[in-house]
Amino acid sequence: MTLHLFSSRINHRRFLVVPALLALLLSLAPEFALALAPPARTEAATVAATPPGAVISSGHRLATEAGLQILAEGGNAFDAAVAVSSTLSVVEPISSGLGGGGFFLLHDARTGKDVMLDAREYAPESATPAAFLDKNGELDRDRSVNGPWSAGIPGLPAALVELAGKHGRLPLAQSLAPSIRIARDGFPVYARMAKGYQSRREVMERYPGTRAVYLRNGKPIAEGDIFRQPELAHTLELLASKGFDGFYRGETARKLLKGVKQAGGRWTAEELAGYRVKQRTPLSFDYHGWKITTAPPPSSGGIALVEMLQILEPWKLEELDEAHRIHLVVEAMRRAYRDRTFFLGDPDFVDMPLAVLASRDYAQGLRATIHPDKATPSDLLSGKPTPLEDDETTHFSIIDAQGNRVGATQTVNLLYGSGLIPAGTGVLLNNEMDDFALKPGTPNAFGVMGYEANAPKAGKRMLSSMTPTFMESPDRVVVLGTPGGSRIITMVLLGILGYDAGLSPQQVSALPRYHHQWLPDVISAESGAFSTQVADALKAMGHEVDLPGDTAAGGRGSSHVWGSLQTVMWDRKAGTLSGGSDPRNPVAEARVVEQASP
Ligand code: GLY
Repeated sequence: MTLHLFSSRINHRRFLVVPALLALLLSLAPEFALALAPPARTEAATVAATPPGAVISSGHRLATEAGLQILAEGGNAFDAAVAVSSTLSVVEPISSGLGGGGFFLLHDARTGKDVMLDAREYAPESATPAAFLDKNGELDRDRSVNGPWSAGIPGLPAALVELAGKHGRLPLAQSLAPSIRIARDGFPVYARMAKGYQSRREVMERYPGTRAVYLRNGKPIAEGDIFRQPELAHTLELLASKGFDGFYRGETARKLLKGVKQAGGRWTAEELAGYRVKQRTPLSFDYHGWKITTAPPPSSGGIALVEMLQILEPWKLEELDEAHRIHLVVEAMRRAYRDRTFFLGDPDFVDMPLAVLASRDYAQGLRATIHPDKATPSDLLSGKPTPLEDDETTHFSIIDAQGNRVGATQTVNLLYGSGLIPAGTGVLLNNEMDDFALKPGTPNAFGVMGYEANAPKAGKRMLSSMTPTFMESPDRVVVLGTPGGSRIITMVLLGILGYDAGLSPQQVSALPRYHHQWLPDVISAESGAFSTQVADALKAMGHEVDLPGDTAAGGRGSSHVWGSLQTVMWDRKAGTLSGGSDPRNPVAEARVVEQASP
């Protein structure tokens, strides 16, 4: 990865001086009373060289089963990842699919190397900023999230080919077999899928290819129906037999191009055939004796995690009362999300001050701007608002008996992506174009703003929040990640803090969640995440707190939870494997199996 201290394209200095100014403003604040702790060191221990079996945690039990089946057939974690990913694409069309993309963080136990496969979608040439403006020059919100213009060129099928061909031991066709069977034979529709369809129904039913898949005698899918996708099974079979060309050239490519054109969009055959997975060097840094390995740009997650954890690193969070602990974590979130908005984009198109953002000096500067018991108004950190994104996407985590690891987060962006299935393919296209700053300075459908670094351009990948992450201490190895739009990064942060505090994978998955993303200047919390006392203490420090739950505790009376954190852990000292599956997602499953080292 090329690291640039300063870029000529963006005035980084304007933003990077803010911490120093804030430090000055806050210099009148009382002496910083929080104890500083040196980074913790874990004692070296006698540890197992390989796990006692394998473990998979995913957002749907059928996907977990498919991965375990492939391991039982002699596959490794990368073959299992093909099975899990493709099965999620069949059983969670609400979240991800062949028409979308993802990031696959891989650890090869034999070489000890980590790599991230970047299978993010990219913008077609037709997707100029002007293409997303209406006749008044305003952002055309329908175009940015619905139908062909909202879709980037898909990356997920290319990732499956790459995983099997470069990292797996089994033929692609064998690892795709479970997903092909489930697409053909069907699976029971679950509540979230049926409910999601109702909320996207108007858009989905604009397109004949989508109607053919989702309507039976004119009636949409309902919970408990068996949902069969024979056209998707055929598309998967072409991928299985022909590899890359089975999707990006030939029959499937022709149908995709025709479907996009008939719906009014413009993709070219060259854009499809030109798609390539990029091998990215993950970001890696130390936190309290853990080696954290995580997603680099075009994910914003890794850089935000480095910033937040390095801000928090010296503090003994566990010794603080809950309200002060949350206050400090929120202040770290606020600062990292501000930088996310301005600096980050596709590393092949923009220079980013990554070395500065990831440095301990920078974190120290930001830390100095945090008052121990007063909220920093976000207005003091210059910039513009980035309200919450929606929370689709999916994540799975795998450790195999050899110690190989996969953490993968994949997505079609919002609920059911663009809603468009090009006829005859079964492939629901993403609406990932909305993750670009389509009109710089203008909020998109979810109020997200962005600037130059994330402006759309032909071949450019849109900024993401997906943050598949590894943690390693001398005795523990962890894989974690979650869906959740812009909240992904703060969920992974809370997960890392949970593991650092000694929690088990299941406890980490179940942790109550809160989030701050600089602007709007508010802490959003899950129902029940804060007691009345904690919420009151945070308010007394100057935080605005959005409590969706109990009205008696000052909440709005509605229930709101987010994410589906799927995580696995190998305790090398105890010689055990365990998985954590998010209790918020009733169809998710983590399962450990005994298995000899392959
Ligand atoms: N579309 C969600 C993300 O990539 O962050």
